[in-house]
Amino acid sequence: MDNQSQWKSSTGFILASAGSAIGLGAMWKFPYMAGIYGGGAFLIMFLLFTIIVGLPLLIMEFAVGKMGQTYTTRIYGKLTNKKWLNVIGWNGNLAVFILFGFYSVIGGWIIIYMVEVFQQLIGIKPPGLDHIKFEEVITDPALTIIGQGLFIFITMGIVMLGVEKGLEKASKIMMPLLFIFLIIIVAKSLTLEGAMSGLRYILEPRVKDISVKGTLFALGQSFFTLSLGTTGMITYASYASKEMTIKTSALSIVVMNIIVSLLAGLAIFPATEAFGFKPTDGPGLLFKVLPQVFNQMSLGSVFYFIFLILFLFAALTSSISLLELNVSNFTKNNNDHRKPVAIIASILVFLISIPATLSFGSLNGFRIFGLTLFDCMDFVVSNILMPLGALGTTLVVGQLLDKDALKVSFGKDRFNLFRPWYYLVKYILPLVIIIVFIMQLI
Ligand code: TRP
Repeated sequence: MDNQSQWKSSTGFILASAGSAIGLGAMWKFPYMAGIYGGGAFLIMFLLFTIIVGLPLLIMEFAVGKMGQTYTTRIYGKLTNKKWLNVIGWNGNLAVFILFGFYSVIGGWIIIYMVEVFQQLIGIKPPGLDHIKFEEVITDPALTIIGQGLFIFITMGIVMLGVEKGLEKASKIMMPLLFIFLIIIVAKSLTLEGAMSGLRYILEPRVKDISVKGTLFALGQSFFTLSLGTTGMITYASYASKEMTIKTSALSIVVMNIIVSLLAGLAIFPATEAFGFKPTDGPGLLFKVLPQVFNQMSLGSVFYFIFLILFLFAALTSSISLLELNVSNFTKNNNDHRKPVAIIASILVFLISIPATLSFGSLNGFRIFGLTLFDCMDFVVSNILMPLGALGTTLVVGQLLDKDALKVSFGKDRFNLFRPWYYLVKYILPLVIIIVFIMQLI
């Protein structure tokens, strides 16, 4: 018997899975990817992939979790009676492990910025958000390693104490607040000089600017924000009761993710030019642009500090679930070994996060196929392991699982969506993933 606990309400399930899915992907990664791959051109592909590919895949992962009701390195074997298929779960496990490694680098930056702004607030450092020099921060090895170490340490503490439930309650307040803050930043950005050209950059659907590479990264971005292929969403649904409606839950997560991504884009691009930055500035884009925007507001440092707390919260609700996945798989959901496993996993994550962070500084010259170590880790996760995991799951669902059982898991079907969804998952989506995958290798 697994000691699987269950969600009491759909709201609890949606809150927890949305907290896990909505994080750095929408707020930090989307604008920086869109900036590099053509703004509006990237946005169209991202929207298409998120709605046509991402949504059905998310429903699929929820259906699998709801049917299997166990941890993800066992669920595939349990559902198909083919133990070797658990390799799909292990693939997801590896993905979240590496993902946490580079996620913590960005989490660390948030903490460093918080400390910096706090020092300004209490008068230890001269005020002025425009003083914070991004390049200096991220190339300082000691500072960044301490920052990400702290981020991992906080995540570990929460997982060890098992207080995630408290966090879910807090997210009822924190997430809407973050939302409001994003809207305020958008409003401010839009009043800046040159805002219109930035707005056009992200919103204008310039179809001719769609590139093969941009298309590949747009799919990777959809996978990343929706946590697809990492089995994270399967885990959440494995706690779902039989009555839970997975379609509305999936739809709300997709919609929230799109809205947050769009708001992040609208907050950043209109302000980019005004402060002399370029959309193509890469992973630092958000960290360079936002302090400047807040600097234009009265009480800007106070608001920026609150924003950073909310941003850190959103990142933590995701990193907790990243670590939790490794812990639940290695302890087979048995709480006895929870603490040592959480500690060992965190130490290993910390070790792999060090080269990722140094790749912004001293290891910047070390490239694999032209990518820094940080970019490489991201690429392996978002563009290889996540699509592979999702592909494996589509094959299991389409070829091996019983259609009627799936239909039960799919739930009430007022609009007769089961059939189109099933055929999409069985025939079309595996092909789409394979085609994109092959394009990538070429
Ligand atoms: N979707 C998360 C984000 O946007 C990242 C992520 C991918 C994730 N897979 C996951 C988070 C699995 C938790 C569990 O930030």
